[in-house]
Amino acid sequence: MPETDLLKGKRIILGITGSIAAYKAAEITRELIKREAQVYVVMTKAATHFISPLTLQTLSGNPVITELFYERGPQETHIDLASRNDLLLIAPATANIIGKISTGIADDILTTLVLATTSPILMAPAMNEKMYYNSIFKENMEKLARYGVEFIEPEYGELSCGKKGMGRLASISKIIEAVKTALKRRKDLSGKRILVTAGPTQEPIDEVRYIANRSSAKMGFALARAAYEMGGKVILISGPTLLKPPLGVEFIQIRTALEMYEAVKERFKEVDIGIFAAAVADFHPSKAHRGKIKKEEKGLVVELTPNPDILKEIGKDKGSKILVGFAAEVEDLIANASLKLKEKNLDMIVANRISEEGAGFEVDTNIVTIISKEEAIEKLPQLSKDEVARLILKKVVDMVEAAGFEPVTSSVRRMRSPN
Ligand code: PMT
Repeated sequence: MPETDLLKGKRIILGITGSIAAYKAAEITRELIKREAQVYVVMTKAATHFISPLTLQTLSGNPVITELFYERGPQETHIDLASRNDLLLIAPATANIIGKISTGIADDILTTLVLATTSPILMAPAMNEKMYYNSIFKENMEKLARYGVEFIEPEYGELSCGKKGMGRLASISKIIEAVKTALKRRKDLSGKRILVTAGPTQEPIDEVRYIANRSSAKMGFALARAAYEMGGKVILISGPTLLKPPLGVEFIQIRTALEMYEAVKERFKEVDIGIFAAAVADFHPSKAHRGKIKKEEKGLVVELTPNPDILKEIGKDKGSKILVGFAAEVEDLIANASLKLKEKNLDMIVANRISEEGAGFEVDTNIVTIISKEEAIEKLPQLSKDEVARLILKKVVDMVEAAGFEPVTSSVRRMRSPN
């Protein structure tokens, strides 16, 4: 898509905060307007000391909002703005605003807007090097990144103190590129339906005990959340977990592998893409006893029956749908994962060395290697599960674009709603 089309008519809120780099917001506004975006500038009080609202009003052609409480005129309220924007860009973003937003403070127009917005949020930090490397600031930034805020890394160069260092606002061209990427990504999965499996399964021995595993469902939930944020319609089928289902996602709770199998069979026909992150138990007790089995001195022998391999069964008849599996491995990561990719007829497999610290079950981070059916191998560093999910989905989007297939969703919708 040409870049003018990508930005044309897009409603972008440009938040400006109190940094010496605030003057560069005028150039950002001009570049966005040149590409036919609609720009609504919101400034903190501190920002108005560095650049005049009148400059930005003149460049954007829209009133500039600087106050949370103001006489309601014909212009939109902050809630109107937040609910109708395509992107919220904060450039420059000071350490102060990042700190406030990371703790949920909403005490001025910009922080309130951030809490009310559902669009992607981009922040371009600008500050002194010492502040940029401060651990408290880093923690705040990492926290926001976990919630899906994207950061445009500052540059090394001359700072306002006269010294050289890291922390100078990213170049205007880099900021415009990031805006385009964020807007594109938002739409990348729109019209697509994605089924995600997550969590463990529980296989009952009796009415009290069960066989399960350590899956927390964090990886699967991160995938469902990211797919929704990228515009997809998401069905999340999960085993028992303490996590709350992500907003906007259709959630189906199951308990056993057989229940997951039934739910997947039922819903897979509606989707374009399946991502299987669940840690399904490979066996279930052949007989689930009623009540509670009595404690016996001689111990207890539980006979196990294999569960169906859900992904393998689905892979047999996947047609042109995109299928992504996970492989939880402790040794021979690439060889074992590649074998699973072939056996289950997958388009991509995410190999997870679960014995590594910071990877696999329960933790908030993961370390994975992504293997495509064309045998391209990409090892990712330790990242938050949200970031891993976004990177997996970006690869899925590439596959969707390469395949150029029509989503099944339109035909399913037509069949279901004749009125
Ligand atoms: O939930 P978390 O605590 O965040 O942990 C994340 C995770 C470690 C569970 C996740 O990253 C992961 O690796 N999931 C796959 C776990 C697994 O069961 O791997 P596997 O190698 O045994 O299975 C291969 C693939 O077949 C998986 O996509 C699995 O969902 C699927 N499978 C396996 C067995 C089965 N009976 N049915 C299946 O569909």
